[in-house]
Amino acid sequence: MLDTPNTLTPAINSKTIATGKKILTGDRATGQLHLGHYVGSLKQRVELQQGNQQTILVADMQGLTDNGNTPSKVASNILNVVADYLAVGINPAQTTICLQSGVPALAELTMYYANLVSIARLERNPTVKNEIQGKNFGRSIPAGFLTYPISQAADITAFQAQLVPVGDDQLPMLEQTNEIVRKVNALANSEILVECHPLLSNVSRLPSADGKSKMSKSLGNVITLDASDQAIGQAVKAMYTDPSHLTIDQPGQIEGNVVFTYLDAFHPDTIFIAELKKHYQRGGLGDGKTKQILTDCLQALIAPIRARRQRLIADKGYLTEVLKKGTEQAKEESQQTLDKVKTAFGLNLL
Ligand code: TRP
Repeated sequence: MLDTPNTLTPAINSKTIATGKKILTGDRATGQLHLGHYVGSLKQRVELQQGNQQTILVADMQGLTDNGNTPSKVASNILNVVADYLAVGINPAQTTICLQSGVPALAELTMYYANLVSIARLERNPTVKNEIQGKNFGRSIPAGFLTYPISQAADITAFQAQLVPVGDDQLPMLEQTNEIVRKVNALANSEILVECHPLLSNVSRLPSADGKSKMSKSLGNVITLDASDQAIGQAVKAMYTDPSHLTIDQPGQIEGNVVFTYLDAFHPDTIFIAELKKHYQRGGLGDGKTKQILTDCLQALIAPIRARRQRLIADKGYLTEVLKKGTEQAKEESQQTLDKVKTAFGLNLL
């Protein structure tokens, strides 16, 4: 998928990484988070927060890059995202949760880095290219949108992040970040910024129910982290299976069968799922049964998250307090990086 030289080192799995790393991730605050975020990144963040220095950014400014005319979509979702983080088990005592717009060094770094990146390079970024096609901007691409990889580089480098847990659609952002890191370090003639590495989960792209696209809030096909049992049941019922598996006794196909993709992603008992697959391939196992197993599994996963989320979202004061505290911490840390970068450009007169 990358049309730029792959300069990233191989992805590391959270099970094998050492502790003591600086970690940064973020999410656009344009909607509630969903199961795709959960398997793609949130679950890993909960595992990683122990023993590492983890910062999570609620990316409200990045959310504006395609919502310039609908900013309330961003403003109204900031606390939703914080509630999602806490509900899945991200612990503010272990992880710094901060708000992008509350950390001025991020916007400042973006302005400095913007001088090191060509428009042609931005236009070549495959993720941005895809998004531009999907969003029907026509000839009116917002400048902020085209340049958001630069702002994301600011997010990552501001905290000197070594690891970035993301889905594979974000790899081009990390490549661009490392190009900027190398340019700034060359200017400074010293390693003032560190290169980052992706941390991919085993499931980096959860398909939508029809199997044709990924689960995505902009496509409107999500199972949110507070989905009701009924909504989960309906979503599973609509999932694409094997269209040639017409009767229970016929052998069925696993490949492209969305129900099995989800079972692989979410079911805790891998041995049981391996047996189930064999049974399905042999024949004698109906889609009603496999869908019931998946429904039970997703309902069991979401029920406690939903309960915590409902309690949290009722206490906006607490959520705001968590964000404020994390943002203060992030401000201090990122200011140190900004000072070094300004010095690299020779702008340290005052
Ligand atoms: N681009 C990410 C998304 O679309 C959000 C994001 C913003 C991010 N800043 C980041 C991800 C820094 C990783 C690191 O969800």
